[in-house]
Amino acid sequence: MAHDDNTADKNAAERDAAREKTGEGTAARDAARTFTVEVERLLAEAAAAMSAAADASSLESARIEFLGAKSGRLKAVQKLLGQLGAADKPAGGRRFNELKQALAACFEAAEARLAGAARGLPPIDVTLPGVARRLGRHHPITLTIRRVQQIMGRLGFESVEGPEVEDQWHNFDALAIPPEHPARDPLDNFYLAVAKGHSPLLLRSQTSTVQIRVMEARKPPLRIISLGRVYRPDTADATHYPMFHQVEGLCVERGTTMAHLKSVLRFFASSFLGGDVHVRFRPSFFPFTEPSVEVDMEWGGRWVEMGGAGMVDPAVLAAVGYDPEQVSGFAFGLGVERIAARRHGVADIRDFYRNDVRFLEQFR
Ligand code: PHE
Repeated sequence: MAHDDNTADKNAAERDAAREKTGEGTAARDAARTFTVEVERLLAEAAAAMSAAADASSLESARIEFLGAKSGRLKAVQKLLGQLGAADKPAGGRRFNELKQALAACFEAAEARLAGAARGLPPIDVTLPGVARRLGRHHPITLTIRRVQQIMGRLGFESVEGPEVEDQWHNFDALAIPPEHPARDPLDNFYLAVAKGHSPLLLRSQTSTVQIRVMEARKPPLRIISLGRVYRPDTADATHYPMFHQVEGLCVERGTTMAHLKSVLRFFASSFLGGDVHVRFRPSFFPFTEPSVEVDMEWGGRWVEMGGAGMVDPAVLAAVGYDPEQVSGFAFGLGVERIAARRHGVADIRDFYRNDVRFLEQFR
């Protein structure tokens, strides 16, 4: 009961005194006792019956028994209220109202419980510990892509996207890869069988396609990166997978040099890996860059090849309508799985695609 015991005693004592004064004697005292006892009994029994009701019809019989308008037990208690002496009436009235509200609440709770059960919900036990919801998280490759975008964004490189199904112009021709070049070999590409004909479509084998798409659509100066999937029919091993991701970077401005390329890559590498990173260029060849280099990064005492880079070949600039006398550019392409594996110490890039939650859970 919400009443403080002492207060209750005091009030009872006051009422006893009042009864003496008004000349209401033992009869009134007995009526008050009966009323109190009946209120408590009714409350306890109604609560028990309603919370035990297993279906709508047993709840309905409980409602009739306790709350029924004609002969419900609440009505009987109301009659007892009428028999209270004048001194007990005010407190009795309040108690009766509390009782009425408590019974209504019991009834509504039972109704809600049965409605929940009808919808297949278990009865709610608010004292049970909650069910912890398992939170998903981003895939390490997605996290890596976002990180790269963030770092390159600081140098003014805008992130753009290109299609994964490409035509030969963007995947080869515009990148100065001639028709007889081995890079076009059907054994090295996923050509789409549906698009047989003179120039079948293919799943892009490199993100350098996006260099062309952006240069065709915009005028220099530009600084973009493009991160996305590329496809090559490689046998999967610890460092290869038939689908992987590349980050392509392209900067075309007046006076761009190899030194800018190396500075950007060094900034990127030390921001991404953290701490001291060395970037090394080894002479190489790509049809669309001149000069061309392989990019190695040294971090934690180990050199790892991260991708290719170079100065955009003037012929490529001219093919998209840029004037190679006015602007020059650098481009680079790095393997996203490679840099992610290096950063997190992953020995086998296939782990990224095994969908083993225990592996994937470690990244945030
Ligand atoms: N596209 C090249 C590859 O996939 C990498 C590269 C990108 C090289 C940009 C030079 C410039 O191997």
